[in-house]
Amino acid sequence: PSVTYVQSTGVEYRIDANEGQSLMEAAVGNLVPGIVGDCGGACACATCHVYVEPEWLERAGPITANEEAMLDVVIDRRENSRLACQLKASAALDGIVLRVPESQV
Ligand code: FES
Repeated sequence: PSVTYVQSTGVEYRIDANEGQSLMEAAVGNLVPGIVGDCGGACACATCHVYVEPEWLERAGPITANEEAMLDVVIDRRENSRLACQLKASAALDGIVLRVPESQV
């Protein structure tokens, strides 16, 4: 499935993720700047914080209690904030667009 990561500078990285791979792993594996994934996807660092383009929010699915707790501590949370490690590449999310917060470069 294709995933596009848009940097705060406007630069876009469009990559092909593997089915089932988290969108944090897909970013790290393709050297997308701004997504670090310090905790390895354990929902414990928030260095994979992204903004999901509004039209994809619903398909991205619900936020778990763990993700919610982590999102609570990010400084630049918005309504469409998610942790990329909690989103999985799938046919349903093929073409999803994620924006990397300005604080992450
Ligand atoms: Fe640490 Fe997502 S990689 S919270």
